[in-house]
Amino acid sequence: MMNALILATDSALRTLFAEPRASRSNPAANVADLALSDAERRQSGALMRINHVGEVCAQALYTGQALACQSPTLRAQLAQASREETDHLAWTQQRLQDLNDRPSWLNPLWYAGAFAIGFAAGKLGGDKVSLGFVVETERQVEAHLQSHMDLLPSSDLASRAIVSAMKADEIAHAQMAQQAGAVELPAPVKAFMQAAAKVMTTVAHRV
Ligand SMILES: [Fe+2]
Ligand SMILES: [Fe+2]
Repeated sequence: MMNALILATDSALRTLFAEPRASRSNPAANVADLALSDAERRQSGALMRINHVGEVCAQALYTGQALACQSPTLRAQLAQASREETDHLAWTQQRLQDLNDRPSWLNPLWYAGAFAIGFAAGKLGGDKVSLGFVVETERQVEAHLQSHMDLLPSSDLASRAIVSAMKADEIAHAQMAQQAGAVELPAPVKAFMQAAAKVMTTVAHRV
């Protein structure tokens, strides 16, 4: 228990306050840096802030789930996915800086909420439900990132490259969880997750 608490605190502090280090190169590195108007820059900033919050939540969810999970194999799979989410965290954070925008002020709150949900999913439901939770989360994130491909300014090639690479990873995370034996979550749980995500994306657009 003590050990779990230390791990959780360490992950929270690193996610919220340390500079995340990506293990893969930034997909935005090799795209042309086209000039954005002020309005376009603000629009991209708001969307990338939402995506950054999403990645803060991904760190929290995967950490909560890994701490609650029973099987060492599953724990390793969650850890692998979580490393890829760290790349996403680093890429979105870098993009926010390049856009002269800032992360959400509420990140500690988002982290705490997502950690609690991830831990509860693993503890109350067990590994198969926890995996079902990964599948549903990643599917919702994938759909959300797809919607950003329509909302991002067409000249913001850097943000688009990042979102597109993240989307490919999220699809792979859902597939990993599916193959590991995820159960389908009940419709009310999915609806609750969708509602929670809606609150987060709406608030993070501004705050
Ligand atoms: Fe991600
Ligand atoms: Fe993911």
